[in-house]
Amino acid sequence: MKTINSYSSDSFVIEGGRELKGSVRVSGSKNASLPVILATILVKGESVIEDVPELLDVWTAVEILESLGGYVERENGRFKVNTEKISRWDVPEEIVKKMRASILCMGPLLARFGKVLIPKPGGCSIGKRPIDQHLKFFERAGGSIKEVNGFFQIEIKKKKPVEFRFDLITVTGTENALLYLSSVRGKSILKNIAIEPEVMDLINVLNKMGARIYVEGRTAEIEGNEDLKPFTHRVIPDRIEAGTLMVGAVMTSGDVILENVNVEHIGNILEKLEEAGGGVEILSKNKIRVFRKEELKPVNIETAEYPGFPTDMQAQFMSMASISKGISRIKENIFENRFHHVWELRKMGADIEVKGREAIVRGVRELRGAEVKSTDLRASASLILAGLVARGKTIIRDIYHLDRGYERLEEKLGKLGALIERLPVCVS
Ligand code: EPU
Repeated sequence: MKTINSYSSDSFVIEGGRELKGSVRVSGSKNASLPVILATILVKGESVIEDVPELLDVWTAVEILESLGGYVERENGRFKVNTEKISRWDVPEEIVKKMRASILCMGPLLARFGKVLIPKPGGCSIGKRPIDQHLKFFERAGGSIKEVNGFFQIEIKKKKPVEFRFDLITVTGTENALLYLSSVRGKSILKNIAIEPEVMDLINVLNKMGARIYVEGRTAEIEGNEDLKPFTHRVIPDRIEAGTLMVGAVMTSGDVILENVNVEHIGNILEKLEEAGGGVEILSKNKIRVFRKEELKPVNIETAEYPGFPTDMQAQFMSMASISKGISRIKENIFENRFHHVWELRKMGADIEVKGREAIVRGVRELRGAEVKSTDLRASASLILAGLVARGKTIIRDIYHLDRGYERLEEKLGKLGALIERLPVCVS
């Protein structure tokens, strides 16, 4: 298994100027897989999860399970997770350092053992990312929370149903609460929840396990079950990988058929893609053709919680805006520091000005290849897209960020005609 360290010095070299053409299968969703993998902690037995993407964050989730006493067998994206022997409720610090989403095991461990010991996750490159809402929820659920030497120690002595309203919409906060409440007998209510497709996929799994969760608007009613059962589940397609490939098709004047997409999940992305000059043909519920229809046009984008425009697609659209004719405005409302790609895109000739949470992008005629640095997952994707259209050679350093969240992206792009190569050591 590759670890973050074994990837840390990898770079990509891209020779720009090739159109993306052909067809490609989108992988299962990273952000849907992580909570579903950790949901297995709720039960004793073997659960089967299908179409799990093989990427670093998934290995980290597996590491968590194994550190707790679980066992995972995997073959071609099919994960058999045995949680019979899980006996620990403390999560190792080095794992949480690698992946913030490790906090998703709080809910399941509290459900199974009534306690959890987990290091405080720090901020990360895209923002401070506090977890106050997660903690506030567990406190409402009867938890006593202590902070000891940089760890949270939470204990819930007696499980009881809860009525709780989130002060803000949080994806993993909602997931943690749902994971916990699924095991609590009686009716709980959560208000102001996130309704991202990944949250709905988790709800689907929890219902298969024996909980009864109904969602109306931003309210969930949860009828928990103390006797949850193992499950079999196929995770939903990755809407952000799909969106990234679609932007690539439009930017490069290409024509790509994407298989394994859920068109219901990508409405907002498609709308902006068409506004930007992309052509979209829905071939079936799971298959879509995306191509360049017109000259690239500027877009105005504001990121928002689902069903709004996803923050995870902001950087990729910024790459596209940087070569469109006119001025685009892109506002990041979810994370306070998610514009690192701007400085790298500027090295490639992009004309982008940042004013607070807004980026003003003045389209240039062309980008030029440069040596740039990947700073976070979606920023890496935006630099790859820029590299695909830039004149000459682009070198992207530190692409382990990309490996955390995309499954074999360079292989997929290569199959579509891109000239992209992974260099396992730094080139100078
Ligand atoms: N927030 C708080 N307090 C909390 C929780 C969140 O202030 O207790 C704030 C955050 O700091 C942020 C906003 O609320 O400003 C939204 O954060 P949220 O909790 O929704 O984000 P997350 O659950 O940590 C998930 C995805 C992210 C995605 C965001 C927003 C996973 C594992 N991660 O993060 O995915 O950007 O929702 O949709 O599901 C990515 O895949 O590249 C990625 C970063």
